[in-house]
Amino acid sequence: MVTTDPVMHQPLTPDYYHYEWAPIDSVYRSSDGGAVVTWRDGEQLKCHPLWLRENAPGPGGIDPRSKENDLNIVDLDLETRVGKAFVENGALVVHFEPEGRRASFHPGWLRHVAEGEHRPFALLPEPQVWRAAELTEPPTHDGPSVLASDEALADWLDDLLRYGLARLINLPIGQETVELVGRRIGVLRDSNFGVTWHVTVDIDPNSTANTNVELPAHSDLPSRETPPGFQLLHCQENTVSGGRSTMTDGLAVVNHLELNEPDVLELLTSREWTFFNRDDSQDHRWTGPIIDKGDGRVPWTFRAFHPVRGFPAMPEEEITGAYFAMQRLGYVANSDEFQIRYQFAPGDLVAFDNHRVLHGRESFDATAGVRRLRGTYLDSDEVYSRVRVLRRHLTSTIPSEMLLTTEEDNNA
Ligand SMILES: [Fe+2]
Repeated sequence: MVTTDPVMHQPLTPDYYHYEWAPIDSVYRSSDGGAVVTWRDGEQLKCHPLWLRENAPGPGGIDPRSKENDLNIVDLDLETRVGKAFVENGALVVHFEPEGRRASFHPGWLRHVAEGEHRPFALLPEPQVWRAAELTEPPTHDGPSVLASDEALADWLDDLLRYGLARLINLPIGQETVELVGRRIGVLRDSNFGVTWHVTVDIDPNSTANTNVELPAHSDLPSRETPPGFQLLHCQENTVSGGRSTMTDGLAVVNHLELNEPDVLELLTSREWTFFNRDDSQDHRWTGPIIDKGDGRVPWTFRAFHPVRGFPAMPEEEITGAYFAMQRLGYVANSDEFQIRYQFAPGDLVAFDNHRVLHGRESFDATAGVRRLRGTYLDSDEVYSRVRVLRRHLTSTIPSEMLLTTEEDNNA
């Protein structure tokens, strides 16, 4: 049975990470038939017997090739208990009853679970909430370096997740630049505007973005079940007067409302609206609150763009209050205290979290000069995954090809 890593000669783990050996100090069986492991510094992990069993390395547990669980749930014996448990060279060794299977668990892998490192946001930078006084311009990085180097890409994405926005400068102004940068991160998200799309003044626009009017603080595509997680905007040409870009940290707005206008926040997070996005060949609609706080963790999702907000989806008597709450959000999000304004120069690319940060632009004079941007979207999953993998490769002392391949275990 293949149960150990062929390179490290350590128990297999259900992932592609290299874990430091973190020897377990002691183990005892818990009253529910599981095991409680303790490290020398007092850290503990309580392992449920069924969870531990399905993560047992080897066939009928963690498949050594896919590093995924191959135990069909209907084949899991719900009477499974830890019959015997002990520490061997720092690893946890368990005999499962009544099956009689022996399994050995990597103590570093167990430790990462004890420390909560398996959770979705554990390996990502903590969001740093900002107001205009704390962040006058987007954090700025050198574009060509990000295209050429994983270290530079990791630094840029770290700022992007920390502040919700980050800028690149000195990029080529070609049409393909935004796609090149986007594909450094992951798979681009297509939409009815195309995989990449232009923002210019159109004669027959299908979006308010493609006019010269002011765009107050907003988020894109609230008309979708899941609005795009991140947006990249690249400036190819900008010779108009006016048209500065704006950004507002939605998390700062939420904090402010929570403290000063909790009734407004309550209306924004609970009253729903139906958004639509239509043209000759499209009819997208979705209903949701202006601020969706999900399960209370980041990211919060703002659904805020008046041109595509169609109908109140609430009892008649609540509508006036809901409009009042949206107006309060409009005042706060577009105020000097929360909103930054900056020039968008050719060769600049600004990436931002479309769930968290509200973007916009000032109006501009379209009769003299040209303002030409190109944009694309990515789902949040793509950005999060890229950041985790960059972190894994850039901090690992094991050659990446060893982390990404699995070979036969001769010691099985
Ligand atoms: Fe927009």
